[in-house]
Amino acid sequence: MLDVAAPAAPARVPTARRYLMCEPEHFTVEYRINPWMDPSRPVDTGLAVEQWTALKETYERLGHRVDLIDPVPGLPDMVFAANSGTVVEGRVLGARFRAPQRAAEAEHFRRWFLANGYRDVVMPSRINEAEGDFAWTGSLLLAGTGFRTDPQAHAEAQEVLGVPVVSLQLVDPRYYHLDVALVVLSEDLVAYYPEAFSPGSRRVLRRLYPDAVLATADDAACLGLNAVSDGRNVVLPVEATHLAEQVARRGFEPIPVDISELRKSGGGPKCCTLEIRD
Ligand code: ARG
Repeated sequence: MLDVAAPAAPARVPTARRYLMCEPEHFTVEYRINPWMDPSRPVDTGLAVEQWTALKETYERLGHRVDLIDPVPGLPDMVFAANSGTVVEGRVLGARFRAPQRAAEAEHFRRWFLANGYRDVVMPSRINEAEGDFAWTGSLLLAGTGFRTDPQAHAEAQEVLGVPVVSLQLVDPRYYHLDVALVVLSEDLVAYYPEAFSPGSRRVLRRLYPDAVLATADDAACLGLNAVSDGRNVVLPVEATHLAEQVARRGFEPIPVDISELRKSGGGPKCCTLEIRD
């Protein structure tokens, strides 16, 4: 008899990745540049380091390479490495931060790339918070705007990286970066929280990804979408249980991590992880 039940999820094949991370040695919440940050609420830097170390070890256990950049005193958000560079096929587009408190981070990362053999490093002229707002799918660069990255930085990224860019409009200040509203699971599949996007951008996402995993308000509220996929393993905040179930149904392996201390700054696993694509 023919099995007419739902088709089995495709086999998901991981690929080895290379990540750049920055230990949260100087992590604090001492200014407020997003609604998650409350400088009056105490932060346990030791616990942040522990959680970050567990995240790094998770990547290593999955067979990925992790490179490190030295943390700099006075730059408490430098742990969020994803905001400091977009690397596609060895080409590096640096960052330009909206908040003056984070501006100096961009130059430290630029120097890291130069010191590590990257010759093709371009610093943007428009505000560009890198992988915070840019998500490379393997064929498209999904690009968020609305709170941080300047829409004109999208055209700049297209020109510098030579890849097609799809602009998406973010509308909810809690989801101020694309990487807290959407995650690329594999080249043809994303998960996202529809309410974080404008009506037009929702239509674009529906058209590009009719089978996308739709995250719930609870998935989004624990920064569950700030996840990192290697094509099979999806590292995501432990609280995102519904999202974990949904990605498992699509054949992915959810890998929960506790990143609660960094969430006090509005960050999760992905924010801590800049992907280097050589
Ligand atoms: N406190 C940081 C900021 O508001 C958090 C950045 C999180 N990074 C990210 N890729 N979403 O800039």
